[in-house]
Amino acid sequence: MKKDSPLDWRNLGASTRALHSGIHRSEQRENSLAMFLTSSYIFESAEQARAVFADEEDGNIYSRFTNPTVAAFEEKIAALEGGEKAIATASGMAAIATVFLSLLSSGDHLVLSRSVFGSTTNMANTVLARMGIGVSRVPLSDLEAWKKAITPKTRMFFAETPANPTLELVDIEALAQLAQEHGILLVLDNVFCTPCLQQPLALGAQLTVHSATKYLDGQGRVLGGAIVGQQELLMKQVFPFLRNTGPSLSPFNAWVLCKGLETLPLRMEKHCDNAEKVAISLANHPQLGGKVRYPGLLDYAQRTTALKQMRRFGGIICLELETRHQAHRFIDNLRLATITANLGDTRTLVTHPATTTHGKLAPQDRIQAGVTEGLVRLSIGLEDAEDILADVHQAMEHV
Ligand SMILES: Cc1ncc(COP(=O)(O)O)c(C=O)c1O
Repeated sequence: MKKDSPLDWRNLGASTRALHSGIHRSEQRENSLAMFLTSSYIFESAEQARAVFADEEDGNIYSRFTNPTVAAFEEKIAALEGGEKAIATASGMAAIATVFLSLLSSGDHLVLSRSVFGSTTNMANTVLARMGIGVSRVPLSDLEAWKKAITPKTRMFFAETPANPTLELVDIEALAQLAQEHGILLVLDNVFCTPCLQQPLALGAQLTVHSATKYLDGQGRVLGGAIVGQQELLMKQVFPFLRNTGPSLSPFNAWVLCKGLETLPLRMEKHCDNAEKVAISLANHPQLGGKVRYPGLLDYAQRTTALKQMRRFGGIICLELETRHQAHRFIDNLRLATITANLGDTRTLVTHPATTTHGKLAPQDRIQAGVTEGLVRLSIGLEDAEDILADVHQAMEHV
């Protein structure tokens, strides 16, 4: 009889890992992944319940702690990212909050990139400040600034690369080396690249975090998040926090996300194909010379770093128009792309970060994050490239 899960996924290709990891069939012998919508699990006896609660016997207790469908998602994302273990969370922000609150204590110090998602900055300024966790914010790509910010209390470096929305990069290997020399944990938000395009754990980061809401689902359906990395760190410190505080992923969302992950490698190639075409075409637009940001462009300022650590350059393009008025004119005249605060969908999406995703930041934080009034973020979808090109070019005529 064929065994259920006999292969070591680490030796197989990304598409095979995405499709075959995380599948543990039930006695029903289902082919597709089963969904376990249950809050709790039953025990054979009071004694068994005691033993499972006492960690003397393995077993599910309650879906805030573990759930087979959530475990399938965790196995898939760990297999793709090359991590020993993954912990799923209810959203990307739940993953980031869980990392901060389970690994940092009052009196500790965090060095945070200036260019991170707006809610990450807001969490540092409010929740972490209230808890007495010191935060220094540094320019993402400036390794000297990271070094200078280190104090005897620094426990963690946290960055996004590429950053949302500016697409600024940091040399992951160099930052990891600096962190390691000082006994500091490096946590990277890998949302823009996904494990298909960039593998921060292999470059020296201890943990990655994901908003699964973005490319991992890839179809704009559900919220979710994940923390991936070292088994011991995750099980000893992060999992107990999740178990006791409850930012857990719903099994329904986990099932949707597993279906999303199955096509992630395929989708990322098409996102990259389309974004490369659109970026090159827009960079040649007479009004946009030097105003298109995309790490795959030949004249991108951080091209060497991009080539060093990114397999391809992702699906996000930014346009740096002069004013908010121009940005709004461009956005309002797009016909195919929809205006929304998400990214990583099958459809092309457009966002004006200064007034939406980064709108609640203090003005100085927004400027430091590089979010100008004229900045437009395009999340290039899976449509036919010619149709996206026609749409962005006709919208530019109105600017
Ligand atoms: C880079 C990045 N990290 C984290 C998040 C937060 O994810 P979620 O919306 O799933 O909480 C986002 C959301 O846009 C993001 O873009």
